[in-house]
Amino acid sequence: MSQQVVTSVLAADTLKGLSSVPKFLLSKYFYDDAGSILFQEIMKMPEYYLTRCEEQILLQHKEALTRWFGNGEKSFSLVELGSGDGQKTKILLKYLAAQGARFQYIPIDISQKANDDMKAMLNREIPQVEVYPRTGDYFKKLQELNGFASDQKVILFLGSNIGNFSDAETDRFLEQLAGFTRTGDKLLIGFDLKKSPQVIMNAYNDPHGHTRRFNLNLLERLNRELDAEFDTAYFEQHTEYNPETGEVKSFLLSKADQHVHIGMLGQTFHFEKWEAIFVERSRKYDLESIGKLARNSGFRVASNFTDNQHYFVDSLWERV
Ligand code: AVI
Repeated sequence: MSQQVVTSVLAADTLKGLSSVPKFLLSKYFYDDAGSILFQEIMKMPEYYLTRCEEQILLQHKEALTRWFGNGEKSFSLVELGSGDGQKTKILLKYLAAQGARFQYIPIDISQKANDDMKAMLNREIPQVEVYPRTGDYFKKLQELNGFASDQKVILFLGSNIGNFSDAETDRFLEQLAGFTRTGDKLLIGFDLKKSPQVIMNAYNDPHGHTRRFNLNLLERLNRELDAEFDTAYFEQHTEYNPETGEVKSFLLSKADQHVHIGMLGQTFHFEKWEAIFVERSRKYDLESIGKLARNSGFRVASNFTDNQHYFVDSLWERV
């Protein structure tokens, strides 16, 4: 995808989001180069338990988990959506390689740099693993893979990325995965579980200010790429958790009645004092709702792997 096309999609989405009532911006635009670095900082914070819990799951359950992937004789394609730096997946890849499993690893990520860095890292550390990175949108790449990936597929979607989708996006995503898989194929999805609201709020309203900067980078990105004139000193991050729905919702609030011009849209947007821009949803689940999602999309839950605190689950689904 050319930078121009990406930018014009960003422009169209920004126009739509800032013209809506209430206003919104899409969280997928957090992850430009600056945002990806800020997200790495978030993942290193002690308060952001998600990454460490999932790492613990993969370390503790790698044997039981990978037993579901293939029976040792059949080769399979391990396709990862949103593979990022691959640090967590490396745990599984090392184990599979040590067991002599026959597989190819196909990481799909929006960032060319993330893919290049990961391929170099894997070639260095586990040279026996065949790595075929794909850069771009998950679904376009999955469609291309239909004729390429070997029959048996194992798809990884880790890190609770699914929690950033709306209900409609989740349904569409799982429907598309069902279309891409065949009976017996596996899907390993990371879900963050409901827990004490205090623990959740500390992870998303952190004392280090990383999440605040991560959120504000969205406006800085619009300044950089769409010639916008946001002054981030006049916006503040606000996050809330609703234990009933399991949704963490993040907003950028306008601290003043202000007008902001966006050069590439040729438009000026008005923000009332304390008006909110919705920027991200991070849903928390329970095992019952995970089971329902699986059943409704043509999968069955084969096994749930959790960490010691039961904060997070990697749910292994089989296509029925
Ligand atoms: C990428 N995603 C799963 C993260 C989450 O927890 O929803 C993004 C994030 N937003 C704020 N902190 C982390």
